[in-house]
Amino acid sequence: MEIHRFEKVWIAIALLLIVGFIATIAYGALGPGVKMVDASGGTIDPEAVAAGESGTAFDDPGVRQTGPNEYDVYVVARQFQFAPGTSQPIEVPAGSTVTFHITSPDVTHGFNIAGTNVNTMVIPGQVAELTVDFDETASYGIVCHEYCGGGHHTMEGTIEVVPQAEYDGPGGS
Ligand code: CUA
Repeated sequence: MEIHRFEKVWIAIALLLIVGFIATIAYGALGPGVKMVDASGGTIDPEAVAAGESGTAFDDPGVRQTGPNEYDVYVVARQFQFAPGTSQPIEVPAGSTVTFHITSPDVTHGFNIAGTNVNTMVIPGQVAELTVDFDETASYGIVCHEYCGGGHHTMEGTIEVVPQAEYDGPGGS
């Protein structure tokens, strides 16, 4: 069987394209240091979270300082608000490393910090855990991107990254 020269060239180009596409996907997934949200947050009883009797930091969600520039933020995502986040903003200082712990007492929600790659599902019974460096002063929106009921489109919140000098500690806002 004879393969025409042009056909060979086109086969080669098509194969190169396939390799190129796989390479870009692999780079997009792994290259920029993006870490998948995994099961490290552990599990939790959603009914206990709903009742505020989980015996964990989710009973009094908010910001906790864990080191010189390190914070833990506990967020309860429920129909249809982030606590904290919705009725009062989550406030952290610039130059800090913040680990979010997020869970839901009712249905599956989403937690996306708009304009960033901070994005996870929030599943009842699971604690989503992710760590973010906030280098600069900024104001971010938080949106729920999983349909969670009639008020889904209203479920949003705010994170304020304030200058170090203006930060008056967890709970100071
Ligand atoms: Cu919560 Cu959509």
